Amino acid sequence: MISNNHNYVHGYSPVEGFRLADQARTLASLLHHGIRFEKGARVLEAGCGIGAQTILLAGNSPGARITSMDISKESLREAQKRVIRAGFTNVVFQEGDITHTSFERGSFDHIFLCFVLEHLVHPLATLAHLTSLLVPGGTITVIEGDHGSTVFYPHSDAARETIRVLIDMQAEKGGNALIGRELYPLLSQAGLADLSVEPLIVYVDATRPDLVDGFIEKTFTAMVAGVEGEAVSSGRISQERWDEGLKGLRRTKEKDGTFCYTFFRAFGSVPLQ
Ligand SMILES: C[S@@+](CC[C@H](N)C(=O)[O-])C[C@H]1O[C@@H](n2cnc3c(N)ncnc32)[C@H](O)[C@@H]1O
Repeated sequence: MISNNHNYVHGYSPVEGFRLADQARTLASLLHHGIRFEKGARVLEAGCGIGAQTILLAGNSPGARITSMDISKESLREAQKRVIRAGFTNVVFQEGDITHTSFERGSFDHIFLCFVLEHLVHPLATLAHLTSLLVPGGTITVIEGDHGSTVFYPHSDAARETIRVLIDMQAEKGGNALIGRELYPLLSQAGLADLSVEPLIVYVDATRPDLVDGFIEKTFTAMVAGVEGEAVSSGRISQERWDEGLKGLRRTKEKDGTFCYTFFRAFGSVPLQ
């Protein structure tokens, strides 16, 4: 029976669902610019979660036929509600494990993954499997973060420690919070051609109050805060140090603070025979 991915460091709480929605809204123009699929194209969204990216894909490519897959039944239920609420009719949902689907070879023209490879134990094998589902000339788009790219002012050792704890927890579950920098070799080893990787930088200071709230607070700090229970109860860090770290992250939201993070967006296509 398929169930939630228990290696998934962020978990499936309603709070995490809100965070994914805030994150997608805040980063929509940065991450989705230029992603448009042609009328009639068969698109697989692998690891759709609660549908935060799905509604952006469906809205930007109204003529595409999107299949959105996730291993979590609860997330899919939420995603379906979101898509219906937004009024889109070009998405179907499928519960399944994207590491070994039962789709036939050549079932899709395009595949889209966002913030998913970082949680997989075998990202390369999954990319190779997903690539086999594409027609020759089909494309794959992968978006991932890289927590090692985080820089901020003022400096806080405690804040850096909380980020390090999250990176370590994810690694212990077989994931990789530093995977953004590896997208080029991963796509290349999966046999994709015409590769291009773009670093997409989010830079925040007081001149961007929307990002101070939407990115520093509701995306990044909320993501770190979300693992507090396990981080502290496992003894990786004391409660006091953790609190100090979150305070340090939030300190960057003040008038003189700055915050910078890099996402990586990679495109590749299946070579024509
Ligand atoms: C960080 S969320 C990202 C969701 C969505 N792409 C977004 O950006 O909002 C990662 C999602 O990948 C899903 N996932 C993890 N491993 C999976 C697997 N093996 N098969 C299918 N979905 C998986 C999780 O259930 C979760 O919903």
